[in-house]
Amino acid sequence: MNEFKFHVGFSWGSATSAYQVEGMPLADGAGPSIWHRFSREPGAIRDGDTGDRACEHYTRYPEDIGWMKQLGLNAYRMSISWSRIFPEGKGTCNTRGLDHYERVVDALLAKGIAPNITLYHWDLPAALDDRGGWLNPDISEWFGEYAAAVIQRLGDRVTHWATLNEPWVVTDGGYLFGVLAPGHRSRAEACIAARNLMRAHGRGVQAARANRAKSVGLVLNIEPKYPASQSPEDLAATARADAYMNEQFILPALEGRVHEALPKMWGESWSEWTAADLALAHQPLDFLGVNYYTRSVVAHQDDTSLTRSRPVPQTQHMISDTGWEVYPEAFEKLLLDLSRRYPKLPLMVTENGSAFVDQPVTPGVPVLEDPPREAYLIAHLQALARAMQKGANVKGYYAWSLIDNLEWALGFSKRFGLIHVDHQTQKRTVKQSGLRYASIVKAGAIHRVEPDLHPAED
Ligand code: BGC
Repeated sequence: MNEFKFHVGFSWGSATSAYQVEGMPLADGAGPSIWHRFSREPGAIRDGDTGDRACEHYTRYPEDIGWMKQLGLNAYRMSISWSRIFPEGKGTCNTRGLDHYERVVDALLAKGIAPNITLYHWDLPAALDDRGGWLNPDISEWFGEYAAAVIQRLGDRVTHWATLNEPWVVTDGGYLFGVLAPGHRSRAEACIAARNLMRAHGRGVQAARANRAKSVGLVLNIEPKYPASQSPEDLAATARADAYMNEQFILPALEGRVHEALPKMWGESWSEWTAADLALAHQPLDFLGVNYYTRSVVAHQDDTSLTRSRPVPQTQHMISDTGWEVYPEAFEKLLLDLSRRYPKLPLMVTENGSAFVDQPVTPGVPVLEDPPREAYLIAHLQALARAMQKGANVKGYYAWSLIDNLEWALGFSKRFGLIHVDHQTQKRTVKQSGLRYASIVKAGAIHRVEPDLHPAED
């Protein structure tokens, strides 16, 4: 079969997150977030970049929605900034923050674009960090209060809600290695944060249900782990890497249990989950959001790291500007594996995309050519099509990202957008990958035979 037709009603979207695109982080009575604070620490973000302006999406959202419409998209994954709604993280609700997101939602709906809202995409209110942030067990209640306030206001118009984006990244980047806000470096803290994130997820789902949210999910970044060899050492290291990055979050949310390898891996930093913690984290979900960028090939390494493993670079394949191997085969397999494992759980690809260095925009030329990003996009849509053809239950695809934005600690140095942003002038220029995506969306179909990135693949 050379062509795969996506079902009618498939969600075709692009994704962004609040701190990465909005700018004006303190507008309309908002409180600072941990990213606002982190961005002020010297050296925390490359080149001293901040989200103070970002893509000015806070005011330019009508123009950006116009671009979505031009690309023919019918969905938009966005996040809400918690500290715009609760400047102190909890307590007094800032209705001006809710008013803003209501305007965005209404503007999307007016163009026939369905918002898919993530409640937490890493920008914790700084005031809550002052109370311990993800280390404080009360955070599940604070998150529930926030989720309820947002869903009470927007739940009549927004169908899809996700609680958290990528709890693993929060744990690993924010609390273990300190490269992301709040910049802590503690094994014991990382273990506690992981559990509290999943407890908050559960409480968020409960709050969403109590406020009659239509469809509620969780977004996980799942990076399939492949062994570098079939040696028992490499196989065991691969299993540990998978337990740490993937199963640590999949299992509590979807099965109400902790992966059996984790207590030993965390060692003396392990902090036990109670039965109540597991019950809270394990809520019925309407969808699982899957963020997929790359796989990792893993070898055993005798060191003191949690996973006692190291990634083995795969130079035979295209590598993106973030150093990630382009490997769509793992995307196909991941979606199929998840659908086989959880047959009743619909999947949404909530992020997929790539950073590559773009050529400068030529004045007067309306489209920016970006062949590597275009190739990545097509190859992954083909992989998605193959997975669905074999039975993967996928309801939507959101390209990361609509626009070039603030790539966290890497600042504006990495460009993931379908649309180029000149961060001085804020001018948007569509990339060829964006137009290619638009043509696939319009056809509702993809040819599954081109281009073959890995002709000699195993
Ligand atoms: C995050 C995005 C990020 C992207 C590319 C995901 O981990 O959800 O915020 O920009 O990957 O690194």
